[in-house]
Amino acid sequence: MSDKTELGRLVAEAQASFETASTMDELRAAKVAHVGDNSPIALANRGIADLPKEDRKEAGQAIGAARGAISAALAQREAALEVVEMEARLIAESVDVTLPVSMRPQGGLHPVTGLFYEMCDVFVAMGWEIAEGPEAEAEWMNFDALNFTPDHPSRFMSDTLFLDPPQNHKILRTHTSPVQMRTLLTRDLPVYIVVPGKTYRADEYDATHLPVFHQLEGLAVDKGLGMAELKGTLDHLAKSMFGSDTKTRLRPHYFPFTEPSAEIDLACFKCHGESVGNPDRACRTCRSEGWIEWGGCGVVNPRVLAAAGIDTDVYSGFAFGMGVDRTVMFRNGASDLRDFAEGDVRFSRQLVGVAR
Ligand code: DAH
Repeated sequence: MSDKTELGRLVAEAQASFETASTMDELRAAKVAHVGDNSPIALANRGIADLPKEDRKEAGQAIGAARGAISAALAQREAALEVVEMEARLIAESVDVTLPVSMRPQGGLHPVTGLFYEMCDVFVAMGWEIAEGPEAEAEWMNFDALNFTPDHPSRFMSDTLFLDPPQNHKILRTHTSPVQMRTLLTRDLPVYIVVPGKTYRADEYDATHLPVFHQLEGLAVDKGLGMAELKGTLDHLAKSMFGSDTKTRLRPHYFPFTEPSAEIDLACFKCHGESVGNPDRACRTCRSEGWIEWGGCGVVNPRVLAAAGIDTDVYSGFAFGMGVDRTVMFRNGASDLRDFAEGDVRFSRQLVGVAR
């Protein structure tokens, strides 16, 4: 089939069918019909071989020209439909960025979490590490390892929450101090760690007590550490949190796992002691006492180090622990600890970004 008019008709039919295709799918169907293996033009092309030798050249040229015209028409329509489809897609998928959106309030950190971050940052900046331990703790870690005698009053059920069955000697940790022993048993010396964590006691749930509360524990064990390094570290923490003119004092105290032991007090950063004996200037932050009890601390008792297999002739250390809920309370003026547990966002929102 090399007849010129016949070929012209094939080209015209193919062009018309491409032109009427209005989608890429339709064009693909038209392509199969007019360019595919069984299309008239393909058959004509294969038929060249069967022609008498002298007719082949001319037929080949005519059929080649017709195939070229059909391919060109196909390519042209393909390009045109691509543009049309892209435009349709852009319209269908367009987003009106000017439409109003419903603004949901952003989540935020609980004030205790926020303060943990702030306190830990002070230590991380000095090269200390963060350590953690389980809240369901072995009674041994919580008490024996820290040199509490078997009859120490805080072990009793009235203070400590025991997990069933009691013969397993598992408790909810009453302080973050068991992480001291866990750290000494697992990390290489020297050790400089802070431990933010939840702690549990069989306490009433009222304005000044929570059965679940939070502590920040610190432990440093190295060569030549003592009371001076403890005092310097806590001073630095206090100044970072309450302002550079903050004063601290260490008051002698007793803890089984430190010797000597002390409590650290902050000079009231609100009234600077002016409320003491001066009812006209009563201070809620320090209850007009001039000092605020902040936490416990001391030089690590060598018995604790020895229990962890540490040579106490070479190494010594200091430790401290403070209540974080209480710290938010006096630092930010919260008055009822139950607000910390009840999850009302209005409470958290009040304390976000409160200036010192
Ligand atoms: N664990 C003590 C408590 O909950 C606080 C404490 C006192 C922690 C002295 C220490 C420390 O690391 O050295 O009351």
